[in-house]
Amino acid sequence: MTEKIGFIGAGNMGQAIIKGLLKAGLYSEKNIIIYDVEPLMIQLKGELGVGTALSEADLVSQVDLTIIAVKPNMMKTVLSAIKTEVDETKVILSIAAGVTLATIAEELPAATKIMRVMPNTPALVGEGMSSLSINQYVTEEEQALAVTILSSLGKVELVQEYLIDAVVGVSGSAPAYVYLFIEALADGAVLAGLPRAQAYQFAAQTVLGSAKMVLESGKHPAELKDMVCSPGGTTIEAVHALETGQFRATVMNAVKAAAERNRELS
Ligand SMILES: NC(=O)c1ccc[n+]([C@@H]2O[C@H](COP(=O)([O-])OP(=O)(O)OC[C@H]3O[C@@H](n4cnc5c(N)ncnc54)[C@H](OP(=O)(O)O)[C@@H]3O)[C@@H](O)[C@H]2O)c1
Repeated sequence: MTEKIGFIGAGNMGQAIIKGLLKAGLYSEKNIIIYDVEPLMIQLKGELGVGTALSEADLVSQVDLTIIAVKPNMMKTVLSAIKTEVDETKVILSIAAGVTLATIAEELPAATKIMRVMPNTPALVGEGMSSLSINQYVTEEEQALAVTILSSLGKVELVQEYLIDAVVGVSGSAPAYVYLFIEALADGAVLAGLPRAQAYQFAAQTVLGSAKMVLESGKHPAELKDMVCSPGGTTIEAVHALETGQFRATVMNAVKAAAERNRELS
């Protein structure tokens, strides 16, 4: 574990990671340093007890591991501000969507250790799914540290960088499709007479529980689906209605569309 960890950008995702680290007890607040706009730094210093830096470069000079959690359009500004403080002992981890390891490397000294993470917003409630890609200078120990850090936000998988487009399709962008599904499930329940507040509760808990069944039972999703479908019953009737509407092909097209769009944007 590096002694101190720094965050350039402490907005939604930066704060989600900081809170995950504190909750998991991986770092104490005195070993977390942030740099963001002044009012936010004052607020987070008060709320979380974390330290603050004077500038992006000041932050990097104080830590071994820097997490950059600014919007992608701010990445060049940040990298240019920190480059004089970066050397082969520092690790730079970026969560900016669409900014490649090569793009980051171009702005920093040769042989800088760089990691790229694609998180998703359920990280805000500790159930995120993150991918981790690294360049050739990152050691196994540093990679293991990143996995530990990201595990405090949910689950993490190592992927080759070229697979990030697929990751965006299946997890980065996917919470939005799942929300559409939950909304549609609930609308269906309202149509069938259930009060709306209860409809969202039934729909969301059913999605959560079904996801847990996939993750924890080790069974193939098709096997779990078969277990619910009794012959001539209600569920197979609903599955037939979904298949008539090309449900699976539509979802596959959505994942493919997000992956292709990410490729265009990178
Ligand atoms: N895959 C996903 O679903 C997913 C989800 C969320 C986020 N992300 C990635 O996570 C990154 C952060 O997103 P977010 O939602 O956390 O953004 P955010 O809430 O806007 O947080 C970014 C913070 O960084 C600050 N900032 C901007 N320039 C800075 C600089 N030079 N030095 C220090 N701080 C600076 C911003 O301040 P101002 O507001 O004043 O600019 C803001 O407080 C993005 O790059 C995004 O692509 C991915």
